[in-house]
Amino acid sequence: MASPRHLLPFPISLTGDGIELREWTPDDLEDLVELLDEPDIARWTPMPSPFDVEAGLAYLKRAHQGRLNGQRIQLAITADGSKPLGEVLLFGVDSGLKEAELGYLVGAAHRRRGLASGALSLLAEYAQDTLGLRRLLLRIDPANTASTSVARRCGFRLTGEPPILQEGPYGPSSLDTWELVESQVVSRLERLKNVATRRYGRRN
Ligand SMILES: CC(C)(COP(=O)(O)OP(=O)(O)OC[C@H]1O[C@@H](n2cnc3c(N)ncnc32)[C@H](O)[C@@H]1OP(=O)(O)O)[C@@H](O)C(=O)NCCC(=O)NCCS
Repeated sequence: MASPRHLLPFPISLTGDGIELREWTPDDLEDLVELLDEPDIARWTPMPSPFDVEAGLAYLKRAHQGRLNGQRIQLAITADGSKPLGEVLLFGVDSGLKEAELGYLVGAAHRRRGLASGALSLLAEYAQDTLGLRRLLLRIDPANTASTSVARRCGFRLTGEPPILQEGPYGPSSLDTWELVESQVVSRLERLKNVATRRYGRRN
């Protein structure tokens, strides 16, 4: 059996759909702070707020350690490998159950362009095809409509598991569990079809 140390490969880059997912580097500090110091990130993710240079340095250090010890995949979302526009993650791998959790965020200036759903689909495909994970999970506050739209668009479904209750700076919240089971990864073509069907109705 592979030791956890070697569970998640490092470094990697994943390309497709006009998106390149790449490893974070120390040079990303300024862009990272700009992306993460923002009200929606503070509201819907566990990021510190305000997210300053000190928080950014700690974040990049933790991301690098998580990559070196093989516990998580944490990749910058870019268009062409250069400027980071967001982040997509895979963590909490249970190699026995062959499942893991995913997460994502996109900078306010880059939203509503399909970046989160493109990045999530790329990492989900990699997790299933290359890492052999069968069940991928998202935990989302039902009030976070942007995030639930991303989940739905990528083929995730609510599991019906009891909500996970959390205390946060905005008061108590609950997170629903969404899952993508093997063979449900939605291809780019299917995603486009889903959008077209919702917009123009299904043609028989
Ligand atoms: C959630 C988030 C990552 C979405 O990023 P994005 O790149 O704008 O998402 P996409 O462009 O891929 O959009 C995917 C779908 O969500 C919809 N969507 C995106 N933002 C939306 C919003 N604010 N309200 C309603 N729908 C929204 C899009 O219209 C699209 O739906 P469609 O398939 O019907 O066209 C981004 O809003 C964000 O970073 N939010 C703060 C952090 C966060 O909430 N992370 C998730 C924690 S669980």
